[in-house]
Amino acid sequence: MDYKLLVQKAIEAKQNAYAPYSNFRVGAALLTYDDQIITGCNVEVSSYSLTICAERNAIFQAYSDGRKKFKAIAVAADTKNYISPCGACRQVISDLCGNIDVILINGNNEYQVLKANDLLPFAFSDKELNNRK
Ligand code: THU
Repeated sequence: MDYKLLVQKAIEAKQNAYAPYSNFRVGAALLTYDDQIITGCNVEVSSYSLTICAERNAIFQAYSDGRKKFKAIAVAADTKNYISPCGACRQVISDLCGNIDVILINGNNEYQVLKANDLLPFAFSDKELNNRK
């Protein structure tokens, strides 16, 4: 699968980032199983901990639209290295999207493709909720 369009959408979504406190812009683009693309960006709040990341905005938007099956998520930031999704977003990707491709984009618009399970090995999931002693 060629992720060029998805990568482009994540880079574009970065432009909408509302990041007046960190000035760290992040864009995300989520590819559904039927090849729709849903984007998100980080949105910061003056009470900093209420900030939401680009990845979670895209995933929650998709669920809100009734879309729950995905192929991949692309994440873009103006970083030298490939952007590394935060721990909270890794949990949400693993939990709500499964072992999808995760495309990490750097500030030169280069990218690498990983699997969600490689970003969050030994993940907590609903299996644990249903597997109590
Ligand atoms: N951020 C994301 O949107 N995604 C990540 O995976 C890492 C961090 C945002 C949150 C905050 O607005 C800014 O980047 C700096 O942490």
